[in-house]
Amino acid sequence: MKTIYFDNNSTTSISPGAAAAVSQCYAQGFVNPASQHRPGQSARRKLEQLRAQMVTMLGGVASGMETDRLIITSGGTESNNLALAGLAAVGRKNKNGSRAPRIIISAVEHPSVLSFADYLGTTGYTIERLAVDQNGSIILSDLQQKLATDRQHPIALVSIMAANNETGVVQPIKTAAALCRQQNVLFHCDAVQAVGKTAIDFSDLGVDSLSMTAHKFHGPRGVGALMLRHGIELPPMFYGGFQQMATRPGTEDVALTAGMHRALIEFQNDTNRETRIRQLRDDLQTGLQKIVPNIVINGHDAPRMAHTLNVSFPGINRQAFLMAADFAGLAISTGSACASGSSDASHVIIAMGANNDVVEGSIRFSLGALNTEQEVDSSLTICKQVFDTLSTSATSQ
Ligand SMILES: Cc1ncc(COP(=O)(O)O)c(C=O)c1O
Repeated sequence: MKTIYFDNNSTTSISPGAAAAVSQCYAQGFVNPASQHRPGQSARRKLEQLRAQMVTMLGGVASGMETDRLIITSGGTESNNLALAGLAAVGRKNKNGSRAPRIIISAVEHPSVLSFADYLGTTGYTIERLAVDQNGSIILSDLQQKLATDRQHPIALVSIMAANNETGVVQPIKTAAALCRQQNVLFHCDAVQAVGKTAIDFSDLGVDSLSMTAHKFHGPRGVGALMLRHGIELPPMFYGGFQQMATRPGTEDVALTAGMHRALIEFQNDTNRETRIRQLRDDLQTGLQKIVPNIVINGHDAPRMAHTLNVSFPGINRQAFLMAADFAGLAISTGSACASGSSDASHVIIAMGANNDVVEGSIRFSLGALNTEQEVDSSLTICKQVFDTLSTSATSQ
């Protein structure tokens, strides 16, 4: 039985082109780009070329006196941690070393932001969470109110994700970043679920930093990046050599970077990909609504990414649904992969003010470039069987 894989927000399969870019780099024998000899210089040239092209593809400034930086990291978690730690320190300095400056994050951030902010809260920052409405969109007036008290209680940093990993809900980043800039408050955006899935323009968004990770868009795992606006000097999290201007020391991997670069190019060249995935997602949604008329589409009235569908089957336990679907050959998820080992309810659906039934029944379907209409049809057959079985056993209890 071939499994239908609808868990692409967790990770995607590496594309043949990205895998080839990685192995070609290794085969070409690129060495440590920090080495002074000619092979080292050649690796450095290749790395810097890849980096500059990715900055351009993401709408940053890659040449001239005011270039934005792309710091290569091990993935989204590291990029978010580096941004929060670094920008919080810079923000505190900007606010004249305020004693307990505030860090504002949305209530629906990924655990790599939420948990790290909690940690920063133990080191002298005050953490505040921005409320979301019933669709999971941040409440801009709440941000405005918080920013209005910046003078009395300075804000070091605001961090809001571009698109939610559980619901796909897209946040108004450009507006939020502009509000922060007016107040001279730094702004980080976790764009892990947006880069390589929809068009991103770093300059137009007006953010100070932006996280990405290759494995969410058919690139290799273990590589990501933090894009950083020109002029911001981030203190490092790791200490070591002078690589990446000592902001992120450690030997850079040219091959993994080449794989990430290739996956980004493939997304940009596949101009129809997002529309194709949106059509599949919409067909899946319509099909599920036919099977379960009282199904709840979480985030339904907000702008949503094409690849994500989060639904609640009222009266059905999410864990039971997931396991029965898995047994029948459909891989889906109950939330972010980091939490999927546990049966914790989703903090995202809870923050949206959903009732207990919706929280308990929340399931995520996430699609990628390789999914097909036939898989959508087969998954609907599986979902109907699973739903019928579970609702019969629920009513017979
Ligand atoms: C929104 C978001 N941010 C950050 C991450 C962490 O990325 P990584 O798995 O590359 O560390 C993820 C991964 O699920 C995510 O969805």
